Amino acid sequence: MIDIDFSGKNVLLTGGGGGIGAGIARRFAVAGARVHLADLKLEMMDRIVSEFKAAGYNYATHALDITDEAAVNKLVDSIVAEDGQLDMLCNCAGIVDNNTYMDTTAETFEKVLAVNLVGMHKCIQAALKHMMPRGFGKIVNVASISARKGVPYQPAYSASKFGVQSLTQSVALTAAASNINVNAICPGFVIENSGMYETTIAKMAERRGVKSNEEMLEVLKSIVPLKRLQSPDDMGNAVVFLCSDMAANITGQALNVDGGVFMN
Ligand SMILES: NC(=O)c1ccc[n+]([C@@H]2O[C@H](COP(=O)([O-])OP(=O)(O)OC[C@H]3O[C@@H](n4cnc5c(N)ncnc54)[C@H](O)[C@@H]3O)[C@@H](O)[C@H]2O)c1
Repeated sequence: MIDIDFSGKNVLLTGGGGGIGAGIARRFAVAGARVHLADLKLEMMDRIVSEFKAAGYNYATHALDITDEAAVNKLVDSIVAEDGQLDMLCNCAGIVDNNTYMDTTAETFEKVLAVNLVGMHKCIQAALKHMMPRGFGKIVNVASISARKGVPYQPAYSASKFGVQSLTQSVALTAAASNINVNAICPGFVIENSGMYETTIAKMAERRGVKSNEEMLEVLKSIVPLKRLQSPDDMGNAVVFLCSDMAANITGQALNVDGGVFMN
């Protein structure tokens, strides 16, 4: 068995109340990390908090809007003051748009970029202020398979996720000399407890003339070479690997965790 031990290490995870966030939080906690869960409102993390309480994991919750730069800096500074350091950052918070390109207003475009890309940048910069002088850190950004090919019915989302790949590479080059690894994962189809998929799946079904969400899930499975959807824990496994010593020589990469939909 591969043993990843994050005892004595901490992580800040944004979007901690979401479906994928739960899987990532769980894998960090199982590996022994102290997990700082952040989401827009504390109650959004109730489900993961009851799981963590029952399991006795080491965690803290924080209400945070990642578009609020002052709040992001304040939170990161307070974690460093309390724990003595910030070892790892996983940027998972995100929103989706489900509009055709011609129906995408500039306002929608700006909102999606403000969260998925600029919000992520604010979190990374706040973390690097501490990680770079220390000469240690791991950062994983959650992109998407929508970062691999344009999506006509999610144009702002896809553009934001292409941006995440670029940001990941630029930050990886910036931070490499400070012994900091910066990578991304590109999840495929993750349905379990995903707030954003609840609306997306219905729209997908409508667009394709598929009768129900259940049938739509079968269509999605048929697209995946491994013929299964992905789980939040699949994403957690990839993220903890990228934060571990086993991935010490991996930086600036975007790892597809999609059952083989994209192979690049
Ligand atoms: N579900 C999928 O199939 C899938 C596929 C590819 C990529 N992703 C990406 O994975 C990440 C998580 O998605 P999910 O499926 O768990 O969706 P989700 O909606 O369940 O989780 C997203 C979380 O981000 C939080 N969030 C949104 N805006 C925020 C802000 N301004 N500040 C702080 N938190 C904010 C939400 O409250 C929510 O808890 C997203 O970045 C998404 O783009 C998801």
